[in-house]
Amino acid sequence: MIAKLTALQQRPADLVGDRLPKHVAVIMDGNGRWAKRRGMPRIMGHRRGVDTLKALLRCCDDWGIGALTAYAFSTENWGRPGEEVDFLMTLFERVLRQELQELMAKNVRIRFVGHLQALPASLQTEIERAMLDTQDNQGIQFTIATNYGGRQEIIQACRAIAVQIQQGNLAPEEIDEAIFERHLYTQGLEDPDLLIRTSGEMRISNFLLWQLAYAEMYITETLWPDFDRDAFHQALLDYQQRHRRFGKL
Ligand code: IPE
Ligand code: IPE
Ligand code: MG
Repeated sequence: MIAKLTALQQRPADLVGDRLPKHVAVIMDGNGRWAKRRGMPRIMGHRRGVDTLKALLRCCDDWGIGALTAYAFSTENWGRPGEEVDFLMTLFERVLRQELQELMAKNVRIRFVGHLQALPASLQTEIERAMLDTQDNQGIQFTIATNYGGRQEIIQACRAIAVQIQQGNLAPEEIDEAIFERHLYTQGLEDPDLLIRTSGEMRISNFLLWQLAYAEMYITETLWPDFDRDAFHQALLDYQQRHRRFGKL
C-alpha cells in the first residue's frame, strides 16, 4: 500500500510542463470490443477499463495535469441490455467504495456530473459520500460523467435560468456565457484543453457539448482497456504540436 502511494512516476522529458493540457477529458470507448476480441463477455472489458482509468488518474497526477474528466455512462447508454447496465451501475458503486480511501490519500477532489437523481439510490449514496469527503482536497480535480448527456445538461440549465426569469430575479438580456456556465454541471471547472477518444470512433457522442467548443481532439484506434501510460504519452506529444488559435490569427 505504501509503495503504491509513494511511487511517483516522473514525467517523460519530452513533455514540456507549460505545454501540457491543464484539463484532459476522455471518452473511454472500446471496452466491449476489447473483450469480444478475447472471446470474453463485454463486462470483462468494463472491468479492465476501471484499471485503465485508475492508472490514467495517477498518471495525470504524477505529471502535473490538474483536471481529468471521464465519460463513464451516457444518457443514451440506458438503451443497452439490462444486464450490462446493471453490471455497470454495480461496478461504479463497488469501485467508488473501494477506492475512496486511496483517493482521499492522494488528495483527489472527486465530482460526478450528469443527471444523478436517476441513478440507483445506493450508487447515489456512494457518490454523495465521495463528493462530500473530497470536496476540500486540493489535488487533482477528477470528474466522472455518469448518466451524462450534453443536451440534457443544456436543457436543465435553460430550465433553471427560466425559473429565475419567471421569479423576476433575472432579465433575458442579462443571460450571457458566464451566467449560462454557472448552471451547467461542470460549473467552476475550466473547459477541457484536450479531448481523447479511444477505439477510433470520430464523434462526440453527446459529451460536454458546450465545454468542448475549443478543445483539441485526439482520436486513437487503441481500445480503452489498452490505453496505457505510453498511449497517453503519445497523445500529449501530439497535443504539444498543436497550434491553438481560438479563431484568431
Ligand atoms: C465504453 O465501451 C464504455 C461505456 C460506454 C460504458 P463500450 O461499452 O462502448 O465498448 P464498445 O464501443 O462497444 O467496444
Ligand atoms: C460513449 O460511448 C459513451 C461513453 C464512453 C460512456 P458509446 O459507445 O456509448 O458511444 P457510441 O454509441 O459509439 O456513439
Ligand atoms: Mg462504445
